[in-house]
Amino acid sequence: MSHADDHAGTRRDFLYYATAGAGTVAAGAAIWPLVNQMNPSADVRALSSIQVDVSGVSDGTQITVKWLGKPVFIRSRTPEEIEEGRTVDLSDLPDPVARNENIPGEAEATDANRTLDEEGKWLVMMGVCTHLGCVPLGNGAGDYNGWFCPCHGSHYDTAGRIRRGPAPTNLPVPVAEFVDETTIVLG
Ligand code: FES
Repeated sequence: MSHADDHAGTRRDFLYYATAGAGTVAAGAAIWPLVNQMNPSADVRALSSIQVDVSGVSDGTQITVKWLGKPVFIRSRTPEEIEEGRTVDLSDLPDPVARNENIPGEAEATDANRTLDEEGKWLVMMGVCTHLGCVPLGNGAGDYNGWFCPCHGSHYDTAGRIRRGPAPTNLPVPVAEFVDETTIVLG
């Protein structure tokens, strides 16, 4: 059985697809439960992998999927967003750690260390503000053209890195991989 087949076998009914576009993260001010679990632990994660079809996600749009009870943002970044993320001076980052579960250890928070593919087009991260758990607004929101959490004013950049406001860390990147050209598996 291939790796992809294996994941297909664990697909759950609770997977849903939010529509791509500006309305995706409309519940911006909602407090997300389980604030202390920004990223699911390995044992919980092992119980539930899901497949996400990203064939309909065009550049400059994103979808939000629910995984283990939490929102996950999946964005197809534009060349401008990639460029903006890659030209940031790392010394300007409040949180210098990549927070990417796909990279062992404490890698630095370069743009390349945050994205799923080498080109830097696909950004997958937990949609839970690292301050007190609100769901940030996306699609170029905030002063750094990424995500903005209106609860207390945290601004994230095009790579989901905290740039200003009370959030202490970058939005976590969960375990994720492409299993074919248009399918991402979470967990
Ligand atoms: S919960 Fe996001 S800024 Fe406070």
